[in-house]
Amino acid sequence: MLAGKRIVLGVTGGIAAYKAVEVCRRLVDGGAHVVPVMTAGAEHFIGRTTLSALASEPVQTSLWNEASPIPHTRLGQSADLVLVAPATARLLGAYAAGLSTDLLSNTLLATRAPVVVCPAMHTEMWEHPAVQANIATLRSRGVHIVEPESGRLAGGDLGHGRLAAPETIVAKVLEVLGAGPMAGLTVVVSAGGTREPIDAVRVIANRSSGKQGYAIAAEAAARGARVTLVSTVELPVPHGVEVRAVETAAQMQASLGELAPTADVVVMAAAVADFRPVAAADGKIKKDQGVPQIILEPTPDILTGLGAAKPAGQVLVGFAAETSDLVANARGKLERKQLDLMVANDVSAPGVGFQHDTNAVTLLRADGSATTVALTDKRSIAKAVLDTVCEIRATTT
Ligand code: PMT
Repeated sequence: MLAGKRIVLGVTGGIAAYKAVEVCRRLVDGGAHVVPVMTAGAEHFIGRTTLSALASEPVQTSLWNEASPIPHTRLGQSADLVLVAPATARLLGAYAAGLSTDLLSNTLLATRAPVVVCPAMHTEMWEHPAVQANIATLRSRGVHIVEPESGRLAGGDLGHGRLAAPETIVAKVLEVLGAGPMAGLTVVVSAGGTREPIDAVRVIANRSSGKQGYAIAAEAAARGARVTLVSTVELPVPHGVEVRAVETAAQMQASLGELAPTADVVVMAAAVADFRPVAAADGKIKKDQGVPQIILEPTPDILTGLGAAKPAGQVLVGFAAETSDLVANARGKLERKQLDLMVANDVSAPGVGFQHDTNAVTLLRADGSATTVALTDKRSIAKAVLDTVCEIRATTT
């Protein structure tokens, strides 16, 4: 994915410097040539040897290197991308102000390559107006910022400012370089269970948490795709994913009707209600009016509509939630809905389907082939689904 790409990896002095080691490993595994640069502060947190051992060449720390007298311009000029992870408040300030205080800040000023900066610091520092002003300045100059996350910080306290996960950082690098295996593709994913109103306060809902759909969206974005998630639930939004919030089957159908015609891949992981009340009551139905008779009608089958209108070259993926005859039922749905791939899960099995962090699936393709993926985390299921999508694309486009 990153073969032939030369990436300068700048590491500054924060506790999150240890995560730069994992970022480095992932970039090298992806085929990149990684040139590591550490600041003096970074050396308080990790040893040069660690990074040198994993990177493509030894760590550089100084402007004054007799073997390479002008490293500050050479490194920046030859880079395809400069990545700083973690970036301290000091580094952000120096970069925003155009100060060349050490090898890394010199390299940042001497490059015309895209720059990705991943700040990490305590919440108070991150929220300080000076730091936020520096971030705004860097953004306005086209620097890509990978926002820090919330979580446990160096002193054990919880807050915003923790370095983004290595996979998020690498996903950003892939996106900026346009290098992921799904780069240039538009992917639409649905997630969560629809909610159909009975009255002003009550709904017909189901147990879908949205975890499986979000995992697919996150994995597609990590592979470089442009991803829109049509979702009924609020979970942390994966990096690079745009979310469209919906509630009912009708709203989901309208949103997908807009997005699907221009998508290369559509994945319906949402659990759409099959029935809804014919009419929602105005206000709240009162208990003292007796037990209400709720008349139901079928919802539109969104996936059937998408299958009938599928543009040439699009890969359309459904999910089948079954409690018996998994493969037979799921294959019937695949055929009726004109899908390229059906992801069948037996939601009566332990750890499978609704709400769990895990899932186990059978991947049924329109050509009749089938692959099973044993119980694993939902991100791994997402990887298997998208690997299959890419195989299908390779044979049909
Ligand atoms: O969200 P999680 O808690 O992580 O759980 C994941 C999941 C169990 C919801 C997911 O793995 C899953 O199985 N999603 C599909 C659930 C479902 O609605 O299955 P189904 O067999 O009833 O429907 C088949 C397909 O038709 C689905 O892709 C569904 O989105 C689609 N459909 C169904 C009804 C309808 N009116 N319109 C549709 O488009």
